[in-house]
Amino acid sequence: MFKLTNKSVVITGGGSGIGRAMSILFAQQGAIVHIIELNDKAAADTVAEIETAGGKATGYACDVSDQQQVVDTFAKIGAIDILINNAGIAHIGRADNTSTADFERVFNVNVKGAYNCLYAVIPVLKANGGGVILNTASIAASVGITDRFAYSMSKGAIHAMTLSVARDFLHDNIRCNCISPARIHTPFVDGFIAKNYAGKEAEIFEKLSKSQPIGRMGKSEEVAALALYLCSDEAGFITGTDYPIDGGFITLNN
Ligand SMILES: NC(=O)c1ccc[n+]([C@@H]2O[C@H](COP(=O)([O-])OP(=O)(O)OC[C@H]3O[C@@H](n4cnc5c(N)ncnc54)[C@H](O)[C@@H]3O)[C@@H](O)[C@H]2O)c1
Repeated sequence: MFKLTNKSVVITGGGSGIGRAMSILFAQQGAIVHIIELNDKAAADTVAEIETAGGKATGYACDVSDQQQVVDTFAKIGAIDILINNAGIAHIGRADNTSTADFERVFNVNVKGAYNCLYAVIPVLKANGGGVILNTASIAASVGITDRFAYSMSKGAIHAMTLSVARDFLHDNIRCNCISPARIHTPFVDGFIAKNYAGKEAEIFEKLSKSQPIGRMGKSEEVAALALYLCSDEAGFITGTDYPIDGGFITLNN
């Protein structure tokens, strides 16, 4: 089960954290992995790890928020079976203290970046007779999280775009779902703790761990395993759905 032999898979942000774990797992399952990354050094590191293990992967330096770069990159890749929109950035703030510049930066990467990849991949998937798209939302799309105004906006948009694409391309044999992780321990989390809570890192790490009722943060590998299932043929009956992977965050936090 869950084999992806010779499937062509595009993973955005595959140089770090969840995207890196997905790239490694998908390659282990036989996929030909294409990593689209702003950080080409990080992409090269993931590619090297996959190749050392005997897998197939290529990195592409590309900013997903730039449509021309995305279109050019997808043209280089050619045939695609699976797209995972994973690249994303964090932001801390409320509606009354988020600057226009920060709001637009989060929108451009998290929302427009996903749109740019959808725009580029759908004609390719249609020409291929179908395929799978997995978007990365967050629990912030469905629960009010303190101080995450712009980020929640972007992840709510991801959920809505998932429903729209799943509906519009149902009869083109394209399945489209999203996942909603709670806190997953990645460089993304370490980075925003360091930037926003300097000097209180250990205390905030503990607080963020406890905010999942299960008592810890998730692991990138656990998210990658869910992504593998949703992108595999075994999940052929699943489309237009959001999958929380959250240690009980949404339903057990009372
Ligand atoms: N870590 C969490 O707790 C958590 C929780 C819920 C959702 N998510 C979502 O999961 C996804 C991955 O998160 P992560 O924790 O692995 O992050 P990460 O920061 O470890 O990795 C993200 C990768 O995306 C790349 N990237 C950023 N902007 C880009 C751009 N404009 N173009 C191309 N690549 C770009 C970065 O270079 C980085 O390698 C994000 O969409 C994030 O919002 C993360």
